[in-house]
Amino acid sequence: MIYLDNAATTRPKPPGVAEAVAAAMNDYGNSGRGTHPEALEAARSIYGVRQALAALFGCSRADRVAFTPNSTMALNIAISGLLGAGDHVISTDLEHNSVLRPLYRLRAQGGAVDFVPADRQGRIDYEDFERLLRPNTKAVVCTHGSNLTGDLMDIQRVGNFCQKHRLLFILDASQTAGYFPLTWNGSTSAWCASPATKPDGPQGTGGLCVGAGWRFAPCRGRHRRPELL
Ligand SMILES: Cc1ncc(COP(=O)(O)O)c(C=O)c1O
Repeated sequence: MIYLDNAATTRPKPPGVAEAVAAAMNDYGNSGRGTHPEALEAARSIYGVRQALAALFGCSRADRVAFTPNSTMALNIAISGLLGAGDHVISTDLEHNSVLRPLYRLRAQGGAVDFVPADRQGRIDYEDFERLLRPNTKAVVCTHGSNLTGDLMDIQRVGNFCQKHRLLFILDASQTAGYFPLTWNGSTSAWCASPATKPDGPQGTGGLCVGAGWRFAPCRGRHRRPELL
């Protein structure tokens, strides 16, 4: 068989991926729930992954990397946790359903969303971001690499636009994380990525990198509220 569905998920994964998962399942305890060696080993290993991802993706601090089961969850956390009634968002015609669904929900809850149109070739006009700007615009949410056309968004340009107007920049890096730099102007937007789907990670993994100073409304309860600085 010739496998051509790598935009959905890469395969075969490098052998080290399954080996690392099996080692963790066999050897680690529950991270953060004890001080015995197996629990500490799990905690150290998880923090090591945060550090590696922060370094790889240009995130300022390891504790700004959050793990999720996939990109869909990361995007829902970012969009629903940061935006609410009264906020206006600019997105594009090139988005995946995992961006569109939370944006439609935002609209139903009293937010407003405009989409930069794409032409028949899937190209957008970057001037449209300025045209769609409103006094209550709070964020740009857009894909970095389209899963439909393969086109790359010019995140330098979109990042500059966000910086100029002091907007949050939520980047769907599901197709590009690990392949293309996710930074613009030396800064990192919030990005959401699914290592399982593209860069050879295990299925059921994804992540979110949180921009400095961003505060999320919690979307789930647990023992204590995570503090994001
Ligand atoms: C551009 C884009 N965004 C989001 C997703 C959703 O990723 P996941 O399946 O990890 O939730 C995909 C999946 O292929 C995608 O291509």
